[in-house]
Amino acid sequence: MKSLFTKSVFAAAVLAAGLGLASERALAAGETAHVEDTHFSFDGFFGHWDKAQLQRGFQVYNEICSSCHSLHLVAFRNLEEIGFNEDEVKAIAAQYSVLGEPDFYGDVTESPAEPADRIRGKGVAENAPDLSLMGKARVGGPDYIKALLAGYEEAPADVELQPGLYYNPYFPGHQIAMPQPLLGDDVTYSDGTPTTVEQQSEDVAAFLMWASEPMLEDRKRMGIKVILFLIIFTGLLYAVKRKVWADLH
Ligand code: HEC
Repeated sequence: MKSLFTKSVFAAAVLAAGLGLASERALAAGETAHVEDTHFSFDGFFGHWDKAQLQRGFQVYNEICSSCHSLHLVAFRNLEEIGFNEDEVKAIAAQYSVLGEPDFYGDVTESPAEPADRIRGKGVAENAPDLSLMGKARVGGPDYIKALLAGYEEAPADVELQPGLYYNPYFPGHQIAMPQPLLGDDVTYSDGTPTTVEQQSEDVAAFLMWASEPMLEDRKRMGIKVILFLIIFTGLLYAVKRKVWADLH
């Protein structure tokens, strides 16, 4: 009879081989291109927002993406948090419209948006998702968004594109209904930052991360405070322990 040890080793080996096969198969089915890590200012323990970048990212959203995507969870006045002043926010809001209540005949009137309104987009494409939580809704977050926007390619010869879809190796299934939105020099930055596809993609990805988690800085600062508190508290406890035990030795 085999020993219990041999049996468990055998069972572990079978399980490991099974898992290995399963993960290989999963990769073959999904096979999205590898997303490069971008270093964003908000990464890491001491992460913080780069407001100039967030403003550039909003500019890209405002001038390009808003023609198809809404940002339902962000109000125009929230943009003050990334450094726009009150007048700028008013001017931005006035470029958008809000829908009023239906009148007696059921007709809905459109009026210019106010700073308190949410960003409805300028012309929402029906199959384009709302972008409010996109910074956190996808594996890879802003790294993925940047890679996706900058990752459009000619479809390889052996791929048959469905009508109305575009080839993008970062998108699951590689065929996406969003036409390539950034081609380079799509906007003009007032701070002189180059407007390459990569740079604009990175800026709008950072902006979408802010939209998804505007309190990120506070969360990280709180983490630092908690760790500092724990260090000091451990020191105090140690001092008390020594004092209490001193008489007992
Ligand atoms: C012409 C309309 C259009 C424009 C302009 C546009 N998008 Fe899209 N976008 C779409 C559509 C449609 C989808 C849905 C794609 C799908 O599911 O196949 C989409 C999907 C997305 C997704 C989700 C991808 C996923 O993993 O599901 C992100 C993120 C995104 N767009 C970001 C942007 C950003 C940022 C911009 C501006 C630089 C932008 N889009 C401009 C139409 C547009």
